[in-house]
Amino acid sequence: MVAAMDILVTKAERSKLQDLNFDNLVFGRYFSDHMLEADYENGEWKNIEIKPYQPLLLSPSVVALHYGQAIFEGIKAFRDERGDAYIFRPIDNFKRFNISAERMQMPVVPEEIFIEGMRQLVTLDKNWIPAEKDHSLYIRPLMFASDEAIGVRPSDNYKFLIMLSPTGPYYSAPMRIYVEEKFARAVQGGVGFAKTAGNYAAAMLASAEAKEKGYDQVLWTDAFEHKYVQEIGTMNVFFIIGDTAITPDLEQGTILNGVTRQCAITLLEEMGLKVEERPLSIDEIIDAYKAELLHEVFGTGTAATISIIKELRYKDFVMHFDVENWKTAPTLKKWLMDIREGRREDKYGWMWKL
Ligand code: COI
Repeated sequence: MVAAMDILVTKAERSKLQDLNFDNLVFGRYFSDHMLEADYENGEWKNIEIKPYQPLLLSPSVVALHYGQAIFEGIKAFRDERGDAYIFRPIDNFKRFNISAERMQMPVVPEEIFIEGMRQLVTLDKNWIPAEKDHSLYIRPLMFASDEAIGVRPSDNYKFLIMLSPTGPYYSAPMRIYVEEKFARAVQGGVGFAKTAGNYAAAMLASAEAKEKGYDQVLWTDAFEHKYVQEIGTMNVFFIIGDTAITPDLEQGTILNGVTRQCAITLLEEMGLKVEERPLSIDEIIDAYKAELLHEVFGTGTAATISIIKELRYKDFVMHFDVENWKTAPTLKKWLMDIREGRREDKYGWMWKL
């Protein structure tokens, strides 16, 4: 455990918990009683405080609002069947957060603030962790540039926040996916691997157009040839072809290094599948489908966990999947949930006890 920096704690006078209906938790709509806030000023982190969840007072000239110098993370806390609370692999997200920070010319957030602050905040709002199956407390760390200046340059000042949102499943039903050929999410040398706000803003028009065509999300392809697949919406993607699980590799820096992606690779290997991280073209996917070798397609992400894809459309070619008879993605989802909710041994040490 890391040493606590001096964190001032001001508790909410009244908890909002009794107003929450745990039976209908739409993703990301509700926030717990407290949040963590810290400021980076004159080269150091200060004003580290856990306080009642509340709006921020910002100048209209704040750099992040204009130039998008902002990064975030998504982490989940669970309660096991005995009622003990855990955070899932927070150190991995902490490391990725600082990789994003470096790419966006932002300061590193020390472990004493990110991890120890998160531990104290989640401990304080522990009763907000839903006990229902497939539910969790979504933890959202966020950092943004807070200089008040209209000029394009890295900010000198930053704000770091952690907020907590009790939540149910993100995508509950099997998805229909449109293979994107017009827009691009990421390019080599760009920021595809960073969890930065602009990546999500830039994806919205493509998602909206896919929705107009009746699809839930897009499968991104490379920016040069629109040939090699990258990610599905906010998720990494896996294809089970024959006895091998294939997922795009991270070499080009165009794909987010997902923590759920890493879990999926580990658990698929435990199931006895071969796992390959490599470039995968839409042509290879279509050939495998025509040869009846493309068995399953699914997305992985912290918010989404494991999302089953029931249809993939590339130009006029539509691939339908018999999701009712799938074995791998449902087993993967179950194993992951069982580890998180304490029904399966945590042999990889993913659960971080509060
Ligand atoms: C996550 O999977 O945690 C994400 O950040 C995706 C989305 C909610 C933005």
